[in-house]
Amino acid sequence: MSLRAKTTELKRRMQEAFKGGGEQALEKQKASGKMTARERILALLDPNSFHEYDLFVKHAGQDFDMDKKYLPGDGVITGTGSINAWPVCIFAQDFTVAGGSLGLMHAKKITKIMDHAMKMKVPLIGINDSGGARIQEGVNSLAGYGEIFYRNTQASGVIPQISVILGPCAGGAVYSPALTDFVFVVDKISKMFITGPEVIKTVLGEEISMEDLGGARVHAEITGNAHFFAESEADCFDQIKRLVSYIPWNNEKKAEVFPKKAPKSRQYKLDSIFPTNPMQPYDVRDVIRAIADDSDFFEVHEMWAANIVIGFGRLDGQTVGFVANQPMVLAGVLDCDSSDKAARFIRYCDAFNVPLVTLVDLPGYLPGVDQEHAGVIRHGAKVLYAYSEASVPKITVILRKAYGGGYIAMCSNHLRADFVFAWPTAEIAVMGPEGAANIIFRSEIKASDNPEETRKRLIEEYRQKFANPYVAAAYGYVDAVIEPNETRNYLTHSLTLAQGKMEITPKKKHGVPPF
Ligand code: HXC
Repeated sequence: MSLRAKTTELKRRMQEAFKGGGEQALEKQKASGKMTARERILALLDPNSFHEYDLFVKHAGQDFDMDKKYLPGDGVITGTGSINAWPVCIFAQDFTVAGGSLGLMHAKKITKIMDHAMKMKVPLIGINDSGGARIQEGVNSLAGYGEIFYRNTQASGVIPQISVILGPCAGGAVYSPALTDFVFVVDKISKMFITGPEVIKTVLGEEISMEDLGGARVHAEITGNAHFFAESEADCFDQIKRLVSYIPWNNEKKAEVFPKKAPKSRQYKLDSIFPTNPMQPYDVRDVIRAIADDSDFFEVHEMWAANIVIGFGRLDGQTVGFVANQPMVLAGVLDCDSSDKAARFIRYCDAFNVPLVTLVDLPGYLPGVDQEHAGVIRHGAKVLYAYSEASVPKITVILRKAYGGGYIAMCSNHLRADFVFAWPTAEIAVMGPEGAANIIFRSEIKASDNPEETRKRLIEEYRQKFANPYVAAAYGYVDAVIEPNETRNYLTHSLTLAQGKMEITPKKKHGVPPF
């Protein structure tokens, strides 16, 4: 056979495989508002950058007449390509082929591309759209999942791992995304749960739809399993491209440095964003935008635990991770969920050489039986652990309240922040003036002829004396009390200074964080 004939034969085989699960299955996929696996990869990656591997892999099923079935690519497409010209490894499960179910060879394709990603030290993107373990392949399917989970764990903190849920992701299959760094969901398309509505009905007699049990909104707002929520697949891919621009390829690199851009100072003015009344809330994201390059802030976990804000921005072109209390939601307190949210992000930034900028304005940890019983001690400790452990440059700015445990937890000098700055509006104390005066002046207030007036006077006295940045500054716990409009200047200068930061930590295999 001539070269031309052999090439024609190759093309014929490729075209056959590209048909996936066939016309009917493709129509069903389209009718449910979903792109096909191949369309997804092509839409996400740079044009003409996708290189596919293992297209001709055959499934290994023997039972239930599986040996007579042709499953193109064994229900998963794997390969390499680029996003914004940066290399990535990628896999996308093809629901049109046996419901994207995971059998032995399907899993081997995924683990092979994961191994490539680890060897080449480039990000891994997994698009999940699958009915889970291929029932006909029994324990081999389970083995496949185990191999994936093991690799997810080994890759954690070495290469960025991004999971995209674009269909069902049920049963134990959910644990691969859960082990990765960022999970994207799309409204009405993503479904994630350990046990589905049928099992719940049988075991507990409760009826619930798939959407209400594990739809995109549920994971973006309630469980926090998803870090990013998108309205459509196209929107989701745009978000992934944006995320990839902020993070380094691997833990030995720094994120790409972009040309520096001043904030949009006409739109975001600290004077108008920050209220004069210390009790009035404001949106801390506007403070971030007033500081960051081009006022650009890419928020992570936007819809979950909104009392803390986390996300990426740039200062003089360099990626930083912002962690900020959000006075607009629950006065910005730390609670179980916001502690989890912040701690994980801090650890991500630390693992991938992203400096941390912390903006502080919180009255402390959230009091209450619910929180205590939900384990706020353990969850809250994660923030202390993550900040103490982080060795990337850590810069803290105290905007307003920094009370009690909240002051310490939000990257204080004592947890080894490299620089702590405070605005003149900062209030650094064990607790707020009202609570403090009620405790320390209780007898004086009680004995007074006019308790209400005495209370007010003593609160004001306390405020004057302690609710300011100068007591902490007098002990050197605050490095400088700065004018708010100087914040960006101090941050960029500190980041430049901290470029070569080196920290010696005790030799150990790993710590035991309060997981
Ligand atoms: C084999 C599967 C499959 C599976 C779907 N299919 N899931 N084949 N193993 N797990 C096949 C279907 O038989 C069907 O084949 C095709 O995929 C499309 O599926 P439909 O059911 O027609 O699609 P739809 O109506 O959209 O429903 C999607 C679904 C449903 C909700 C995902 O298929 C479903 O409930 N599947 C089973 C989910 C599940 O229980 N999986 C096991 C989870 S346990 P034909 O030939 O008819 O087109 C698990 C353990 C992992 O994953 C443990 C790891 C630690």
